[in-house]
Amino acid sequence: MGTGRAASAMIRGYDPVPAVPRPRLMTPRPFLLSEQMAHYVRASSEAPDEVVRDLIAETAAMAERGEASATLQIGADQAAFMQLLTRALGVRRAIEIGTFTGLSALSIARGLPEDGRLLCLDLDPEWTAVARRYWDRAGVGERVELTLGPALDSLRALPAEPTFDLAFVDADKQGYAAYVAELHPRMRPDGVVLLDNTLRGGHVLEPATDDDRAIAELNVALAADPRWETVLLPLADGLTMLRRR
Ligand SMILES: C[S@@+](CC[C@H](N)C(=O)[O-])C[C@H]1O[C@@H](n2cnc3c(N)ncnc32)[C@H](O)[C@@H]1O
Repeated sequence: MGTGRAASAMIRGYDPVPAVPRPRLMTPRPFLLSEQMAHYVRASSEAPDEVVRDLIAETAAMAERGEASATLQIGADQAAFMQLLTRALGVRRAIEIGTFTGLSALSIARGLPEDGRLLCLDLDPEWTAVARRYWDRAGVGERVELTLGPALDSLRALPAEPTFDLAFVDADKQGYAAYVAELHPRMRPDGVVLLDNTLRGGHVLEPATDDDRAIAELNVALAADPRWETVLLPLADGLTMLRRR
């Protein structure tokens, strides 16, 4: 196999130097990859459809108006991975902590069967109203229930049964340890919990903020916790995958 531009050209749609950069439609590149490699990875994965592209663009426009931070949203690569994982695991009941404008929830909901259910927990009515519009547009709105309020209270109010097959945590970083503790009894055996931003842009090596320290300490604790099988994937900003033993 050749190298550089020749090998790159073997990937349909891949141009190592994009002629027209479209930053508003581009999700942030994973900090572990060079710009060129991030572009190659995107071009080698299923492309986001129109609904996802529009949701990314609307969130970016909100950020430009100062109504949100676009960096809160997961990347399109992670969205594609979460949709595939949800479907491949045969998830029927899922929960998300931290919904924002709804891209991660859209991915999970699309991976569910028609009678599958996703419970979303968030604080913000305006951001999640945007999410609701996109879930409906994608035809998965009926699969998604949204509960507004502090996620820890909402989680604690949930009964232990029926259990969840999949959980995604992407809210306040200092709350992660408590979310994991509350999720454990509510996950079925072999159920999977995904924790977002567990590399903190590299700051887990030298934590500079309380959020960095909370995640760095949680990473150490989870690796030694016999109740979970734990893998930290170097995807996006770090995605920790926990399997309930
Ligand atoms: C990083 S964003 C989530 C991004 C989302 N997963 C996506 O793909 O676009 C974090 C979200 O967590 C919510 N959040 C932060 N603290 C929370 C809390 N204590 N309880 C519930 N939601 C919270 C914020 O309102 C925000 O929407």
